[in-house]
Amino acid sequence: MKICTLALVIVCVMLFISACNKSASENVNRAPVRTPAQTAPAGTPDQFASARAIFKKNCARCHGEDGKGGLKTIDGKKLKIPDLTAGHALGHFDEDFIKQITKGGDGMPAFKDKLTPQEIKELVHLIRHEFQGK
Ligand code: HEC
Repeated sequence: MKICTLALVIVCVMLFISACNKSASENVNRAPVRTPAQTAPAGTPDQFASARAIFKKNCARCHGEDGKGGLKTIDGKKLKIPDLTAGHALGHFDEDFIKQITKGGDGMPAFKDKLTPQEIKELVHLIRHEFQGK
């Protein structure tokens, strides 16, 4: 009977120790686990998402989703849409683009009443990034 009790005590002590070890190792494991916000790289999800949506809605019918433009008939008018990915567009300054988008001209409508200056700026960033790899 005595030995039984002793064995029980030993089992209890061992259970206690292993329980302690377990929680200790759990703590170690828990330490490096990051919250989702920390694991996502900076700048994601997609910093261009809103500009891309604006482009798709307002610009793509003329400039194309790939920005390549070309000869198009829009609202019955023949337009020569410049390629945003090459040629002149590469040499133009951001200010030129901002001016063109804001005021329009030569077949392109003005967007100053439709888009905020911030949205126009983001569109220029999108064009530089998406179409010109800058
Ligand atoms: C109705 C068709 C049309 C729409 C819609 C349109 N554009 Fe244009 N876009 C043009 C044409 C045509 C030109 C060339 C104007 C010229 O010859 O000066 C142009 C020129 C540009 C240029 C200057 C390119 C260069 O090489 O100088 C930029 C930048 C531009 N558009 C961006 C946009 C953005 C951004 C939008 C949407 C907010 C947009 N466009 C919507 C027709 C359009």
